[in-house]
Amino acid sequence: MTVVAANDLRQVYEISRGLFRAPAQLRAVSGVSFSIEAGRTLAVVGESGCGKSTLARMVTLIEKPASGSLTIDGADAVSPPAADRKKLRRTVQLVFQNPYGSLNPRKKIGSILEEPLIINTDLPKAERTDRARAMMAKVGLRPEHYSRYPHMFSGGQRQRIAIARALILSPRLLVADEPVSALDVSIQAQVLNLLADLQKELKLAYLFISHDLGVVRHIAHDVMVMYLGHAIEQGPKQAIFARPLHPYTQALLASTPVTTGAARRKIVLKGELPSPLNPPHGCVFSTRCPFVTDRCRNERPQPRQIDGRSVACHYAETFLSSAAGETL
Ligand SMILES: Nc1ncnc2c1ncn2[C@@H]1O[C@H](COP(=O)(O)OP(=O)(O)OP(=O)(O)O)[C@@H](O)[C@H]1O
Ligand SMILES: [Mg+2]
Repeated sequence: MTVVAANDLRQVYEISRGLFRAPAQLRAVSGVSFSIEAGRTLAVVGESGCGKSTLARMVTLIEKPASGSLTIDGADAVSPPAADRKKLRRTVQLVFQNPYGSLNPRKKIGSILEEPLIINTDLPKAERTDRARAMMAKVGLRPEHYSRYPHMFSGGQRQRIAIARALILSPRLLVADEPVSALDVSIQAQVLNLLADLQKELKLAYLFISHDLGVVRHIAHDVMVMYLGHAIEQGPKQAIFARPLHPYTQALLASTPVTTGAARRKIVLKGELPSPLNPPHGCVFSTRCPFVTDRCRNERPQPRQIDGRSVACHYAETFLSSAAGETL
């Protein structure tokens, strides 16, 4: 069952350039489409500034998209009627990178977990406490943690608290923006395993944002690779990790130690990421692509279905025919 479906989502920010000039338009997300089924994880990867958090803010209703459609649990999430809006706020929840910043330091864990229940339900106090305690157990916190403050916990435990708070209203979709990036590697694996267990048990859909392909490999079913606001390659994790077709995906994978298989084509990214205020005219990756041609500089490639995934590169077939792992 489809929990979230986005079609051609876009976000544009107006950037002031002073009193006498018209504001510049920054296209943070430029036409992204995806859907996530219950129990599945879509991982969004890409360099800093490619639009991952902007996407997260749109999907969690923090920001309204400039255009495009977004449906969550069957309801329109772009301009929901007031009644749906309230329900949607429970259906989709967000977990951030830095749990300390999002947990009120003056509140005990028990009241942090019960607060969403006070705001959104009419459950009596005793039942709220029961739910909070049950959720604490589910995320691996001990009963005595109920009356402790956030500063008394380690980073990994705090992220467990943040996950518990996100799940207390039984959402269907969890948007996690770099949820383990601030944690030690050993703790990362524990939190990722917890998220995987919770997903199975509660049939949750995850939109999981990460710049770390090792983490993505661990948790994703599907992957979307973003570059300057565009989804340049998107599809099942196996297809993309086994044989990335977009040169940018190839470069990302080549630069991470998680890649398996024989000598993967080494693509080293040259140059700087262009400013999103002034993106390349043709292919957004054309200024850094080692295989760039005039066509790439002039004509923006549209996403096409090739080899079980969608890829926006004029020459994707070329990479398909050269065997995986072969050096160019
Ligand atoms: N409120 C805003 N106003 C103007 N520009 C913004 C705003 N939010 C984000 N941007 C710009 O939009 C682009 C995408 O930003 P976003 O935060 O979505 O990137 P990101 O992929 O999450 O990056 P990171 O990996 O660093 O978190 C960036 O160029 C950023 O500067
Ligand atoms: Mg971000």
